[in-house]
Amino acid sequence: MENSVKIQTVASEIRGTGMCVPERVVSNEHFAAYLETSDEWIRERTGIEQRRWCEKGTSASALAEPACREAISAAGLTVNDIDGIVLGTVTPDNIFPSTACYLQARLGITNGFAFDVNAVCSGFIYALTTADALIRSGQGTNVLVVGVDLYSGIIDPNDRGTCVLFGDGAGAVVLSRKQGESLVDGAFGDHLAQGDVRSISGIYGSELKADGRFADLLCVPMGTANPPTPDSLKRGDHFLQMQGREVFKFAVRSLADVTKSVLDRAGVSVEEVDLFISHQANKRILLSMAKHLGIPEEKVPINVDRYGNTSAATIPIVLAECEREGRIKKGDLLLLSAVGGGFSWGAVLVRW
Ligand code: UT7
Repeated sequence: MENSVKIQTVASEIRGTGMCVPERVVSNEHFAAYLETSDEWIRERTGIEQRRWCEKGTSASALAEPACREAISAAGLTVNDIDGIVLGTVTPDNIFPSTACYLQARLGITNGFAFDVNAVCSGFIYALTTADALIRSGQGTNVLVVGVDLYSGIIDPNDRGTCVLFGDGAGAVVLSRKQGESLVDGAFGDHLAQGDVRSISGIYGSELKADGRFADLLCVPMGTANPPTPDSLKRGDHFLQMQGREVFKFAVRSLADVTKSVLDRAGVSVEEVDLFISHQANKRILLSMAKHLGIPEEKVPINVDRYGNTSAATIPIVLAECEREGRIKKGDLLLLSAVGGGFSWGAVLVRW
């Protein structure tokens, strides 16, 4: 009689990607026309050449809908196959209910769960990790994981230190359940540790981190603790506020640390990773992180030049673009990482 125990295992894999950015292109000259700034400063200090902004009044769910339809179709599925939505945003349609619920209604889905995740620029990494855990626990078969933000509505147009940095965008993936006997459930890194499963697609591991001591360095200070009053509105408390230099330093360190940590736990070297898809906030942050980790620049896709920082949407937008361009191939190993307000940060290791 066979002595070995066959483990029925559940894992998740990314089956389709999609993205949507608004049509309106806003150049660096737009800001130079009324602020003390220049195209040269913005390009040199951030790598940003332009960004896309929605028309006023556009909702996050409206921008996310085409990205989701694209991801569902790329996965070879229909909306009827989707039984969950996890959506990262800090620019929701309303205070409540969740933007995920509005999106669900737009897509005509009445099945499964729908909720938002607030982890600012790390929203997609948090949402992806949450969706993976829900699928593993048997609570979803095909889950839409969405990152969408419209910062054009929350930036102070007269603060040159922040208003030039952000764009609007949406990205989505379909994360699907896969079942088999060759993946070992739960134990982080086991998929990779077993030589024969190195080519199996799926989420291999992730790590989420936060440190609320730094909450005030990047925030929109209006809320229950500071309700809207004529004075708070006059102060601009409804706008994003950021200590850019502090955020910059923390971003480089935390992206490098969490990347190392996820790779070490999975027993994977930096050299084995095909692409490092990291949050697009500033080209200099991406290049400093790459230098820290000894990653060649060609392994770090960059699109912050065209879209600016789209917060929770940056990673799924890069994924969708890289897939369209043939830059991601079946079997590639990808390390996704992000950092943002909270501070919150994290990384996910994925085999395509
Ligand atoms: O998604 C995660 C959250 N966001 C980020 O990751 C952003 C992280 N931070 C950054 O990307 C950079 O810190 C910035 C792009 C925001 C700023 O670049 P920096 O090289 O760190 O500049 P700085 O804040 O040290 O400012 C240098 C100078 C200052 O002038 P003084 O005080 O030296 O006279 C700023 O007032 O540059 C000035 N400055 C500008 N000058 C022209 C700041 N913004 C601008 C601007 N145009 N748009």
